[in-house]
Amino acid sequence: MAMTHSTQQSPTTAPKSLAGKKAVVTGGTIGMGRAIVRALTDRGAEVMYTGRSDQRLAEAQAALDTPLAHPVRADATDASAIAALGAQVADHLGGIDYLFVNQGIAEFQTLEEVTEESWDRIFNVNAKGAFFTVQRLAPLMSEGGSIVFTTVSNDQIFPGLSAYSGAKEAVAAFAKVLAAELLPRKIRVNAIAPGFILTPTMGVAELTEEQRAEFIDQGNASTPMGRGGTVEEIAAAALYLAVEATFTTGLELPVDGGFGQGIGR
Ligand SMILES: NC(=O)c1ccc[n+]([C@@H]2O[C@H](COP(=O)([O-])OP(=O)(O)OC[C@H]3O[C@@H](n4cnc5c(N)ncnc54)[C@H](OP(=O)(O)O)[C@@H]3O)[C@@H](O)[C@H]2O)c1
Repeated sequence: MAMTHSTQQSPTTAPKSLAGKKAVVTGGTIGMGRAIVRALTDRGAEVMYTGRSDQRLAEAQAALDTPLAHPVRADATDASAIAALGAQVADHLGGIDYLFVNQGIAEFQTLEEVTEESWDRIFNVNAKGAFFTVQRLAPLMSEGGSIVFTTVSNDQIFPGLSAYSGAKEAVAAFAKVLAAELLPRKIRVNAIAPGFILTPTMGVAELTEEQRAEFIDQGNASTPMGRGGTVEEIAAAALYLAVEATFTTGLELPVDGGFGQGIGR
């Protein structure tokens, strides 16, 4: 009997409900962070998310439009704000199942243009803020919980992002070292490494509309899939690592349309 090719699709299952789960997302006001908050609350989790300004937090809260999301003003470069965030999480959520350390900024500066001040700004937000956020919040995490950092697809690089790329390499290292340190508590630690993602800022501080359009063109041209990723694609990968990938820890997962994978374009 001749074999026929079935067009039957593999069975799909509804995503696991996260009702009763608690999460924190740093840098959750716009872009990928907000998409992660939305993906979590859509599945029923209660989420505290941070940003630096009351106005941006209010805009995010209006857009999210759910009682499961709780905005907290906390600058990740400020030790006292991180301490206060820890206290608020302990008071309001009690504990954390999922922690997404997502805040970040990039600035294009050549070797000659980087100053001690700009270096500190970049490292403080991306690396120092990420580390001390985890130091403060990890004690509140439940056994079986997980942490997901946001790094960057760094295997292919852009000139002018040395401080940023270096800071994100530090975060990639935290994901591995902390995966080892938190293993005894059964807390998994991973990172997503986005390529070009269509966020309001494209992850770069103070881009003009014209520069943004140019950056998007560059992204389309250099990404094997020929397009920028969406924030929903990032959120899906982040939640996969946090929730579904129960046998994965210490991984940095590229979510980059093939950008850093050496497959050419
Ligand atoms: N977009 C890309 O193509 C791309 C590519 C690779 C990696 N990334 C990384 O992915 C992450 C998200 O990027 P995105 O494009 O979604 O960025 P975004 O749209 O600019 O959002 C950044 C978020 O971080 C928050 N934030 C910035 N500085 C902060 C601080 N000091 N303390 C607390 N929160 C702070 C911002 O909040 P407020 O401004 O409201 O304070 C905002 O919620 C970042 O880590 C970025 O480096 C982005």
